[in-house]
Amino acid sequence: MAPLRYEHDVTTWDGDGPVPNDVLVSETSTAEGLLCMITDAIGAPLLERASHLRVISQMAVGVDNIDIGECSRRGILVGHTPGVLTETVADSAFALLGAAARRLFEGEREVRSGKWGPWEPFHLTGGDLHDTTLGIVGMGRIGRAIARRATGYEMRVLYSSPAPKDLADADHVSLEVLLAESDHVVLSASLNDATRGLIGASELRLMRPTAYLVNVARGPLVNTVDLIEALLSGWIAGAALDVTDPEPLPRDHPLLSLPNCLVVPHLGSASVRTRNAMAALAVENLIAGLEGWSMPAAYSTAG
Ligand code: DGY
Repeated sequence: MAPLRYEHDVTTWDGDGPVPNDVLVSETSTAEGLLCMITDAIGAPLLERASHLRVISQMAVGVDNIDIGECSRRGILVGHTPGVLTETVADSAFALLGAAARRLFEGEREVRSGKWGPWEPFHLTGGDLHDTTLGIVGMGRIGRAIARRATGYEMRVLYSSPAPKDLADADHVSLEVLLAESDHVVLSASLNDATRGLIGASELRLMRPTAYLVNVARGPLVNTVDLIEALLSGWIAGAALDVTDPEPLPRDHPLLSLPNCLVVPHLGSASVRTRNAMAALAVENLIAGLEGWSMPAAYSTAG
């Protein structure tokens, strides 16, 4: 915060958890810049009252909590933090993939609950990562970083995205082909009107009963009710979710009772180094926007 405070009057939310929406709306009504998080709803109620607001800087790459159309209509610049978190989120995708496919969380639960019995030949056997087919839904920066890791595992990589990319080691296919042919599916697409609910019952039914689904993007890409059905009915073998819909999940949510579902609390970019880099970039974006310089990472709908 020091560089921001050097030039500007700064008000911060120092309470526990996200800033309550009414406080955010009233504090922003006199602000020229806003540094926000994915937990802040930046929509019409806030923007209508924020008549001085010129710059919004989000400490995240995803901006689905921000009404981008409304910001452009009002001439408000939006910055975000792509790039600095790419490799860390790709690491998370592989950590989740390994944990899900090799059933590590089921094993860990067993050990902790005193149910660790003698070694058995087919106890908690799962799927391999090496020599399998990985489907990546969404081939932006994070998708590419996941694909690079997959090469090391000697995986065949399929991807679906609105347009093919110039990639030597991954094949562009339709979502349907990807779901049907992949041993593991990782979601790394951004959330927008076109991707909300992208994976529902019909898509989950296309997946292999031995396949694992990993979501490191946004919870609402997947229809939660359909995912529960898929996990209960064996349409897929398991899921590992860094993100869910809703978020946070209530303790008694059905997803949390399923042995073949691993849920972690939106930790994809949560390494110390990466969160510090995201914070620094968010501050740089805000200062640049307020000074009238070009932001190091302005959000663009073109990606
Ligand atoms: C993002 O950056 O969009 C993540 O979800 C939070 O790191």
